[in-house]
Amino acid sequence: MSATVKPEKEHFSVLLNELVSIISPLYSGTFIDCTFGQGGVSKKILENPNNKIIALDRDKKTIIKANNFKEKYKDRFVFKNIKFSQINEVKIEKKDIKAVIFDLGYSLNQILDPEKGLSFNSKGKLNMKLGLNEFSAHEVINCLESKDLEKIFRYFGEEKKAKIISKKIFESRKKKILKTEDLVDILNKINFNKKSKIHNATKIFQSLRIFVNREISELIFGLINSFKMLPIGGVIVAISFHSIEDKIIKSFFKFSENKNSSRYLPNTKKNTQLFQLLHRKPIVPSRKEIELNKPSRSAKLRYAVKINHEQNFNEFINIFKHLIEIENLSKKIWKKYFL
Ligand SMILES: C[S@@+](CC[C@H](N)C(=O)[O-])C[C@H]1O[C@@H](n2cnc3c(N)ncnc32)[C@H](O)[C@@H]1O
Repeated sequence: MSATVKPEKEHFSVLLNELVSIISPLYSGTFIDCTFGQGGVSKKILENPNNKIIALDRDKKTIIKANNFKEKYKDRFVFKNIKFSQINEVKIEKKDIKAVIFDLGYSLNQILDPEKGLSFNSKGKLNMKLGLNEFSAHEVINCLESKDLEKIFRYFGEEKKAKIISKKIFESRKKKILKTEDLVDILNKINFNKKSKIHNATKIFQSLRIFVNREISELIFGLINSFKMLPIGGVIVAISFHSIEDKIIKSFFKFSENKNSSRYLPNTKKNTQLFQLLHRKPIVPSRKEIELNKPSRSAKLRYAVKINHEQNFNEFINIFKHLIEIENLSKKIWKKYFL
């Protein structure tokens, strides 16, 4: 696999105007951009000379862009190469934070980077690491048992043929170590729904990317920890690109403290709303934006204003426990590959 990357292909920041119209009424202050990427969102916010940005990104390749920003915006811009679930490690006065922004997924540079292997047109060793990872898709495909692969494909890819696919992978890897092109070859031989507009490999590649990057746990703990960082009146804005992410964000914003777990028990505890939702439905890109930037078609933006403090998120975490447990199957990779 070649490691050369052609940098600086322009990444279109999705729903940027809508994002700006949400955060500009918050006046000037500090904004945390949890997904710096190619800096489109940060740049827009820094157009206001009274704004500051704390930007995070797990991909070390974004450091080059961040250094350019540092040179231009000086002390109005700070960058940290960390995962957003670690947002609580950022040292900052909470009262100064206006909003925390998540623009999830990957940038154009990353999908075009042959080293990352996010595209099914890639060749060579499977990877899919966005940065700060413990293992890659190579170990997942060549090491996990068939029943574990099936869970990953079914729950993270919502793939109906998960069982057949995982069995085929299991059989094929008895003969050789599977590379990206071998996986695509296996998927091309499966009899998928011919009417579907998406490529056979799309859902499987998505599921592997989610698993390798622990995207479910990252989002759940990223949201919880950013909530803890925010003062009352602070806003969380999240743009998602697939239904699992959107479900997590929607539940988080609707989550209330002390909800009774059973409808048969008397309601002795008072519900405390954590957020004010100004839009119940997600904001989606206009037809014009989709025409200009096709990948934006699956984007959904949700945002909410923090109106209460809360410490216990166990009930929210429990809703997605089954997905976190699937991500924890990665412990088996550790035992087999690295110990
Ligand atoms: C869609 S891009 C962001 C694009 C950016 N908003 C822009 O306008 O250029 C998503 C970015 O989030 C980063 N990312 C994804 N998951 C992350 C995580 N858990 N922690 C930190 N960064 C993450 C990716 O590395 C990628 O650079």
